[in-house]
Amino acid sequence: MTGLFISFEGIDGAGKSTHISALVEAFEAQGRRVTLTREPGGTPLAEKLRTLVLNDAMEPLCEALLMFAARRDHLQQVIEPALAQGDVVLCDRFTDATFAYQGHGRGFDLAVLSTLERWVQDTGQGIRQPDLTLWFDLPPAVAAARLANARTPDRFESESQAFFERVAGGYAARMKADPQRFARIPADHPPERVGQAVRAALVDRSWLSPSP
Ligand code: TMP
Repeated sequence: MTGLFISFEGIDGAGKSTHISALVEAFEAQGRRVTLTREPGGTPLAEKLRTLVLNDAMEPLCEALLMFAARRDHLQQVIEPALAQGDVVLCDRFTDATFAYQGHGRGFDLAVLSTLERWVQDTGQGIRQPDLTLWFDLPPAVAAARLANARTPDRFESESQAFFERVAGGYAARMKADPQRFARIPADHPPERVGQAVRAALVDRSWLSPSP
């Protein structure tokens, strides 16, 4: 069975988590083995880098390099081996987040990010990219209201609404550059309706069968 690599993106507060869990169950119910993972993180080293990058003050170049360092370890230790054995890899965020947050949010040079992307995601047979990216598109004002009731915010969650407007614009730009890879999920709806849109994106690609 061929592996399948699916990433989940959106600004903080977009509500990805519930839907990722539902997809784990949906794929397993169809007999697929699932590797559920996240970025930054997914390996012992990358989880340490996650703690640093979410909590310690640093300038944008350090932030971008740590994201890619974590990604390299994660790809080599977890994602590539899982895909090689035919798993469905469900990854909560991947490189689009670096373009959206470090690139558009922080204003870091997009050309440098593209170079790092090619270096870090080079498998020897091409540049690894997700087969599908589900982008949970939520207006930043709605996300801000959701986050206001959340736990203690980390370095990103405590950013301004203007920052998240730029991040959302970054996701839109990534989708425009590679529309085939993306499915935009309008996330300003009740969870059940968002869940149906997520499932439909996978049924459309024949990766999940329609609900009975
Ligand atoms: P999470 O809250 O969805 O687990 O993501 C952790 C935070 O890290 C989130 O605010 C987005 C941010 N992030 C980046 O800034 N760049 C990246 O490359 C990734 C993967 C995440």
